Amino acid sequence: MTGLSRPLAEMADAVLRTADGREKTALARKHAAEWFAARQAGAIIAPLTNRDQIIGAATPPDFPARPDRPELKDPRDVPRRRPGSREGQIALLHAVAHIELNAVDLHWDIIARFTDTPMPLGYYDDWVNAADEEAKHFNLVSDCLEALGSHYGALAAHAGMWRAAEDTAGDLLGRLAVVPMVLEARGLDVTPGMIEVFRNAKLDDTVAALKVIYAEEVGHVAYGSKWFHFLCGRHELDPKETFHGLVRTYFRGALKPPFNEEKRAEAGLPPDFYWPLAERTATQSRGTPD
Ligand SMILES: [Fe+2]
Ligand SMILES: [Fe+2]
Repeated sequence: MTGLSRPLAEMADAVLRTADGREKTALARKHAAEWFAARQAGAIIAPLTNRDQIIGAATPPDFPARPDRPELKDPRDVPRRRPGSREGQIALLHAVAHIELNAVDLHWDIIARFTDTPMPLGYYDDWVNAADEEAKHFNLVSDCLEALGSHYGALAAHAGMWRAAEDTAGDLLGRLAVVPMVLEARGLDVTPGMIEVFRNAKLDDTVAALKVIYAEEVGHVAYGSKWFHFLCGRHELDPKETFHGLVRTYFRGALKPPFNEEKRAEAGLPPDFYWPLAERTATQSRGTPD
């Protein structure tokens, strides 16, 4: 008895194949609750001897199912609006909702796609928890949008959000480097500025939602760093050199300072991981050393 209705990879796959945002997040939360209830009950314990029944395997879709709306556009074609206006605040929240929904899929995908690489039980606990939190984030931000008379799907959103997942579909180390340790770490850099925008607009519920997101995203970056270092150790790779190589391979463009060094440190990302990736391109584009 595993305490699960089906193996975790199949639960992950079902979330990826659910299109509607609220339905996707509801299923994500239901599956996370089922996983943690089984863990709590002692039905799933380390070391994982019955991996086939507990983790199992799946063939996740190349692209997760998404709703018909929002219309997805090239980022250059998504209009920018002043954050001081209500219209601008709605646009900003809409962009955050889009990121959160993508993050739900990213965390289930890292569970479903790499089942050929046996990982310790804690790996699955971490990503199920992260996926559950992303689902909560999407719901929180969607609630804020609705309170402002809008909703997720009302505006266009960035196409290409799944690009990092596509590029790293065959490389778990690359996935960990680019998704939690680059993209989610970037969230730590920009969220304080966003909180400021909504504080100035006196939208207290939105400020509260963004504070929850900010606190929990530190954990997601930390999970990335933890499992990245674990896999480097397993293969006797130097983590910093490996990280630099993978980010240069899979991530287009430079990392953008200023960095939130304090929160990055809290998440297990030291400065010598990210600064060289920012400086390199800054130097190239300006043609002079910093
Ligand atoms: Fe999130
Ligand atoms: Fe996250």
